[in-house]
Amino acid sequence: MKFLITAGPTREPLDPARYITNRSSGRMGYALAGAARHEGHEVMLISGPTHLDVPPGVDFLQVETAQQMYEAVRDYSKGADVAILCAAVADYRPVAYSEQKIKKVGERLVLELERTPDILGSMRSVFGFRGYLIGFAAETQDVETYAREKLVRKQCDMIVANDVSRSDIGFDSRDNEVVLVFPDRCEYPEKDTKEHIAMHIIEHATILRP
Ligand code: CTP
Repeated sequence: MKFLITAGPTREPLDPARYITNRSSGRMGYALAGAARHEGHEVMLISGPTHLDVPPGVDFLQVETAQQMYEAVRDYSKGADVAILCAAVADYRPVAYSEQKIKKVGERLVLELERTPDILGSMRSVFGFRGYLIGFAAETQDVETYAREKLVRKQCDMIVANDVSRSDIGFDSRDNEVVLVFPDRCEYPEKDTKEHIAMHIIEHATILRP
């Protein structure tokens, strides 16, 4: 089977020296790519900037901005059987890019931001993706409720949800504890390394794909 996986943060440039980003390390997405490859699948990993090594045998495309990731996913989703959008895409980017470094003037600076394209939300409605679609949800409260709402709104087959208010899991940590939200049920795997959770998710994707 062919897997398309996104990982890592995006960077939204403000001027030649600065950008807006987030705390994603990319570990979960890279673990998913490694696990899918280990199971013998063909894997395309599209990633924002990280410090991680690309798992052996995985095809790789590095991008920087949400817009670049959107275009790459649009192009590579065509032949994929399973898409796992794990990247922590910036939801907003600066409206204007300054060609010159912004100088400090005054005590306050107001930045105007605009929405980035919703890649996961475009998979069915814009890209016409018909394969098995997995999204991620990083929540700080009512994890299951928000995740289920995302599952329906973005027409996913599975949402992998985690509670990012906890410091022992999620962003930048070795372990993760997730809730797997399906259209008809939820599953609660035990807290484990991101590699083990990745194997579990890949198994589900392989079995449940129509
Ligand atoms: N995502 C995406 N493109 C974006 C923002 C998010 O593809 N511009 C994807 C992420 O890769 C993840 C899922 O959407 O799989 C969840 O993103 P999140 O930002 O948590 O969800 P939103 O629906 O944007 O809602 P909110 O941020 O308000 O919780």
